[in-house]
Amino acid sequence: MRPLSRESILDALANFDTSPFGTQVYYQPRLGSTNDLARDLAVQGAPEGTLVIANEQTAGRGRMGRRWDAPPDTSLLMSIIFHPSLPVERSPRLVMACGLALAEACHELTSLPVQVKWPNDLQIGGKKVAGILAESAVSGEKAEWIVVGIGLNVNQVFEPGDPLWETATSLRMAGGNEYDRAAVLAQSMARLKSWYSRLEDEALTEAWRKRCVTLGQRIRVSTAAGELIGLAEDIDTTGALWLCDDSGRRHRLLGGETTLLYP
Ligand code: BTN
Repeated sequence: MRPLSRESILDALANFDTSPFGTQVYYQPRLGSTNDLARDLAVQGAPEGTLVIANEQTAGRGRMGRRWDAPPDTSLLMSIIFHPSLPVERSPRLVMACGLALAEACHELTSLPVQVKWPNDLQIGGKKVAGILAESAVSGEKAEWIVVGIGLNVNQVFEPGDPLWETATSLRMAGGNEYDRAAVLAQSMARLKSWYSRLEDEALTEAWRKRCVTLGQRIRVSTAAGELIGLAEDIDTTGALWLCDDSGRRHRLLGGETTLLYP
């Protein structure tokens, strides 16, 4: 397998029309967090589509204050800078577009059934294979910039006893092969270009719904405001989840930690 490098990334991107994604590429073998470098670059005015990629992170961050750890040489660890024109309350659609693009690219390259899980995860066979962390600076109705950070487990092998064994997987574990991280990245950016051009289209919501493991399921959602249990009915055009609790009350949720409660 070709090691990840700036050259391998540029070579893979050259196979597709991904512009603006990957027009500027910052690759670092070792970095604190790609989201942190991407944020600094965004503040300095780096253009939309700038990619920050690392082979290893020493301070990778997950959602809800968690860490994101991955052994070197195994993962796709990247951040994408956006300067979107959509109103800030619709910015979760960016995460939907990124998640969908990544899921489609992974499926294309591996034939695995990759699903999206509201709000920010990808999973295969009920186990998490990728997470997305979006961070932004908002001014008035618009985001000045949004950084979407993606951590995709590509070639990890979790052993029994590993804390992630029960809950996480990788493309390699699910597919039985090692995969080229640069190829996954380039294919994802080609898909993202396509979805980003249709960010406000119903087609994005529809495609996301079709790939979603959450909808129609009984779920528990933990939020800063507490915990809710009920049926995940639908997502709306802003990316919010509508949950109907056991007393029939409907809740519009903007984020949280979701657990599927199988009967
Ligand atoms: C989650 O909690 O599921 C989101 C995980 C996001 C991890 C990625 S790895 C690349 C980018 N840089 C970070 O520090 N975090 C994101």
